[in-house]
Amino acid sequence: MATKTGARASKTAGAVRTYRVAVIPGDGTGPEVIREGRKVLDAASKRDGFRVDWRDYDLGGARYLKTKDTVPASVLKELRDVDAIYLGAIGHPDVKPGILEQGILLKLRFELDQYINLRPVKLYPGVWTPLRDKKPEDIDFVVVRENTEGLYAGVGGFLRKGTSDEVALQASVNTRHGVERCIRYAFDYTRARGKRKKLTFCGKTNVLTFAHDLWFRVFEEVAAEYKDITTDYAHVDATCMWMVKNPEWFDVIVTDNMFGDIITDLGAMIQGGMGIAAGGNLNPEGVSMFEPIGGSAPKYTGQNVINPLAAICAGGMLLQQLGESKASQDIEQAVMQVTGTKLKSLAAGKMGYSTSEVGDLVAKAL
Ligand code: IPM
Ligand code: MG
Repeated sequence: MATKTGARASKTAGAVRTYRVAVIPGDGTGPEVIREGRKVLDAASKRDGFRVDWRDYDLGGARYLKTKDTVPASVLKELRDVDAIYLGAIGHPDVKPGILEQGILLKLRFELDQYINLRPVKLYPGVWTPLRDKKPEDIDFVVVRENTEGLYAGVGGFLRKGTSDEVALQASVNTRHGVERCIRYAFDYTRARGKRKKLTFCGKTNVLTFAHDLWFRVFEEVAAEYKDITTDYAHVDATCMWMVKNPEWFDVIVTDNMFGDIITDLGAMIQGGMGIAAGGNLNPEGVSMFEPIGGSAPKYTGQNVINPLAAICAGGMLLQQLGESKASQDIEQAVMQVTGTKLKSLAAGKMGYSTSEVGDLVAKAL
């Protein structure tokens, strides 16, 4: 559903469309789910007449423990030159929290200027949701999360650290440029999605009277250029409330980095859990990176029980960004067929099938 597809298609004119995709399976169950995603993307590409040229990278906790590096400069240089990145999971029980997240995930988002984090929240057929009375037609919206600024910018510091007079500051960075490009993307996306054509800005204008004053002004200004889009505003706390009580009110939500992080975990839960939630870190003019939004799930590692559907859906989003819309839609249809007719549950170990069997089912349903 990307409005500005990457258009990073094959460089070899006349030949079969070929995409160079860097794969970072990462830690824990990452490699298992990515393996299934590749299986499905390869099946789709064979059928639709394009080729994915996979390039493997071993970034992650295991590598860090051996070498103490996260993303070496030479790797970053190569990643700048691929058509897309396919990421499994980052996070290792033996590495202090923050090192890999900041050193790999956030580093790639920032360095590659992936300023949009696109997270569809969609309840597929047959999937259990904790919202008792809600059906697939009620839960189908997309969160456009700003992905390079806000509280994630890493601006701040300590004063008198470790003393009883300690001060810790962490600033939210909101630039006119960053806010505007995110909001413009959200309007374009809402229009291209063509559903209810409604865009909700989720903020906290009653408290963040500087940061979200800027956001709100830009939102209104840009809205004037999109007369066909209905706009709405909801405070972040109220957004959480409505996501549970009336998720059918939402079509597209645009929000800042921190709020987007929080509400998309809630979104993942109402769409059936981390087993199905996928996201894309987009640089519409550059290299985008796609990932299942759940973590590395160390306790399920290597058991062939983790649900690969989130990774498969992330792969579908990747193809969309590359301009392979048909293959992308076909993958989503195949996933819906599998959730609707096969899986007992989306939870690890309770699917009624192993990780690799679920990958086979989706590939076969294509
Ligand atoms: C996510 C994750 C990351 C984030 C963490 C791992 C840094 O929670 O992708 O939502 O906060 O963005
Ligand atoms: Mg998160």
